[in-house]
Amino acid sequence: MAPIALGSLSDRHVHLNGIKKPEQPQDGFGTRAVHVGSDPDPSTGAVIPAISLSTTYKQHGIGNHKGFEYSRSANPNRSALEQTLSSLESGGAYALAFASGSATTATVLQSLGHNAHIVSVNDVYGGTFRYMTRVAKENQGLETTFLDLENADEAQVNAALRHDTKLIWIESPTNPTLRLIDIPRIVGIAKAHPSHPLVLVDNTFMSPFYSSPLLQGADIVLHSLTKYVNGHSDVVMGAIILPQHHVALRDHLAFLQNSIGAVPSAYDSWLAQRGAKTLHLRMKEHGRNALLVARALEKSPYVKEVIYPGLASHPRHEVARRSLSPHAARFVQAESDHNPDGSFPYGGMVSFRISGGLEEAQRFFGATRLFTLAESLGGVESLAELPALMTHGSIPPAERAILGIGDDLIRLSVGIEEGTDLVLDVEQALRAAVEGSLRA
Ligand SMILES: Cc1ncc(COP(=O)(O)O)c(C=O)c1O
Repeated sequence: MAPIALGSLSDRHVHLNGIKKPEQPQDGFGTRAVHVGSDPDPSTGAVIPAISLSTTYKQHGIGNHKGFEYSRSANPNRSALEQTLSSLESGGAYALAFASGSATTATVLQSLGHNAHIVSVNDVYGGTFRYMTRVAKENQGLETTFLDLENADEAQVNAALRHDTKLIWIESPTNPTLRLIDIPRIVGIAKAHPSHPLVLVDNTFMSPFYSSPLLQGADIVLHSLTKYVNGHSDVVMGAIILPQHHVALRDHLAFLQNSIGAVPSAYDSWLAQRGAKTLHLRMKEHGRNALLVARALEKSPYVKEVIYPGLASHPRHEVARRSLSPHAARFVQAESDHNPDGSFPYGGMVSFRISGGLEEAQRFFGATRLFTLAESLGGVESLAELPALMTHGSIPPAERAILGIGDDLIRLSVGIEEGTDLVLDVEQALRAAVEGSLRA
């Protein structure tokens, strides 16, 4: 192999336990998204990594190989994606990719062993709730205490923690009511408790662009890469990212990743890495558009309530501001001239309550031109859904009522189309949905 030219990007990387890290922390988010894990191929010069479909790799003598033996254990495209993710999730040093966000959740919870106790935010993603209560409970005796981590005071969080509590599971903002958990506050309580539970943050909704939980003291960040990181609604995949000091935890989880084998394919890894290269651009546009749509909803006579933490009127707006990653804070600052009221872009998810109920909501979905009625989120295209009957339909009605998930609650995943087109679409669909009911 030809020696690497001094000053080339490759020259600026070192290997850390098999994971490459950029030596130049001053490289911005967008630079890292484009370059880390994407060195030109030394044998061909290809700027974009080739897709390595081989399941096995030649050994020049037993154990003498180039870092790859068998594709479940490690694959060049998965390793490249893991390098990208460990760099993008600020504060991260190691990343492990899995076949879905749910496989990632399963592997993390399996790592806790038998009869562990965890505390979870009460409106956790439905699939995570299902795994905790119906799989991990039966198979490994996992006990989960669900708690309103947004409002619980220190005494209430401490009361939920036990001597055998191994993990606190956070999502912020939560889905679909966008409740905000103050991550440093929960980390502080966890660190002071004698059981020293790990703090995991499912950062799927914010993506590594808007929030950096590892910089706020979290131990593990989890992503459904299916959503913003891949960003094109064509890959199902998940990952965890860990900070430098959790090397033993990383080794344990890597052992489980290989042993359980719920790993992504080379092609999916390649697609997700390609998607991640534009994460910063997409997230800025998702945020700008979501803010435009949220403002339009706020002005609409056909809307009872808008939930978007970036709006200055949101009751926990200041928590949202404090939670911004350093790169998102710079972006928000640069946008501030456009937002004299103090509102700012804060991801692409907006929820609102339509005047009326199920009938009006159904008419709204039928009337939108650009928002497609569909589950999932985080793709370039705008989506709309009714959580009560779709993503959260498996939650019992009484529980849904406590969480505020009624038949009038609509969740939007605001895409990166022209923002003004999206606003016009929402306005005309609301008119058709609610005025239609007034005429009826
Ligand atoms: C917040 C969150 N976490 C985890 C998951 C699970 O990810 P996947 O669908 O990739 O298994 C989802 C899926 O919607 C999610 O919204």
